[in-house]
This record gives sequence, C-alpha cells and structure tokens, in this order.
Amino acid sequence: MSKSTNIVWHDSKVMKEDRQKLNKHKSAVLWFTGLSGSGKSTISVELEKKLHELGVHTYRLDGDNVRHGLNNNLGFSPEDRTENIRRIGEVSKLMADAGLVTLTAFISPYREDRDNVRAILDEDEFVEVYVKCSVEACEERDPKGLYKKARAGEIKGFTGIDAPYEEPINPEVTVETDKQTLEESVDTIVTYLKEKGYL
Ligand code: ADX
Repeated sequence: MSKSTNIVWHDSKVMKEDRQKLNKHKSAVLWFTGLSGSGKSTISVELEKKLHELGVHTYRLDGDNVRHGLNNNLGFSPEDRTENIRRIGEVSKLMADAGLVTLTAFISPYREDRDNVRAILDEDEFVEVYVKCSVEACEERDPKGLYKKARAGEIKGFTGIDAPYEEPINPEVTVETDKQTLEESVDTIVTYLKEKGYL
C-alpha cells in the first residue's frame, strides 16, 4: 500500500498516444517468464535485435541486471520476489507510457504477481511469453552453475528445485526451448506480434 499522502497527479501535454504516433507502433510489454536457464534472456536479446532492425523502439529489463541496481535490496524470498516483480511491473508501465516495446526477462514464478502486472497495464499491452523448458534440460545447461549449487544445498529456495514455479495458464505465446531452436522461438514471437498488429 502507498505510504505517500498529499500527492497530486500532474498531467503532461504529450500523451502516450502522441508518442506512439511518432514511433509508428503501439506500446507493449513482452513479459518473458520461465525457469532459470530456460532461455529468457537469450531470446529477449535476439528478439530485441530483430525488433530494433524493424524500426521498433525497444528497451530490455533483465533479472540479473535489474538486481544489480534498482532491486539490489531484494533477495529470493517469496516476498522479495513479489516486490521484485511489482517494481518491474511499475517500470514497465512507465516504459509503455513512454511508447516503448519493453522486453522483460524475470523468472516471475508466481502467477498472481504476473497477473498483477497485466492488471496495471492497458488492455493488450501485456504479452506473456512462456519460455517453457523442463527442469531437467535447464539443469543440464546450468549456464551459471546454480542448479549444481542448489542440489548441493549451497543455495536454498532455488526455483524448480526447492522453490515453486507456477506455469502460465493462458500465455499469449509459448516457446519451447528444449524443442525449438533460438531462431524458431524468436520467429514465433515476431509472427505473433505481426498477426496481432503490434508491429
Ligand atoms: S524472480 O524469481 O524474482 O523473478 P529474477 O528473474 O529476478 O527472479 O532472478 C533470477 C536469477 O537470479 C536467476 O537466473 C539466477 O541467476 C539468480 N538466482 C539466485 N538465487 C536464486 C534463487 N534462489 N532462485 C532463482 N534464481 C536465483
């Protein structure tokens, strides 16, 4: 809940719609969710490159990066993960207002937290992209060696090992990184964005 009182919203003379007109595309938040090592960051990096080449104004928010700065006072307890996602949601909302297509790559393991972000954005702005990959495949990849540490008991509450991951029920897009190539995953998302008129 808000701790601020006596605050008044101040309107701008340049509105989101004006920025979108200038950009020649809508705002969107492409919300990647999935296990650590599922490929969220990798796909979002490639997709951003592709969108940029198509003339789309983009910005990428990434779990590991944001936790170095804005959210460096948060850990991985359920409460901290919820606060992590809440803040990223609010930042994404500002970016949508700025007319950007934002790509976020956070595990965001709780369905309710993701739905709360959807709820604060305008209709159709939130595009949930489920980066589906079995725990076994993620553990096999283990790009940061964290699954190994979690199995050894050196990290407690690691998502997929001893902390939950709640799969999206009705994501706008699903990519399966243990079955598709990186290029196929990126193409699936670009096709969706074109078909739905985001691009
Ligand atoms: S989230 O759960 O709050 O959405 P976020 O995406 O920001 O997580 O950060 C996940 C990254 O933090 C992982 O990719 C991994 O590198 C690192 N990490 C460190 N500890 C944990 C943990 N206990 N569970 C999951 N990821 C962790």
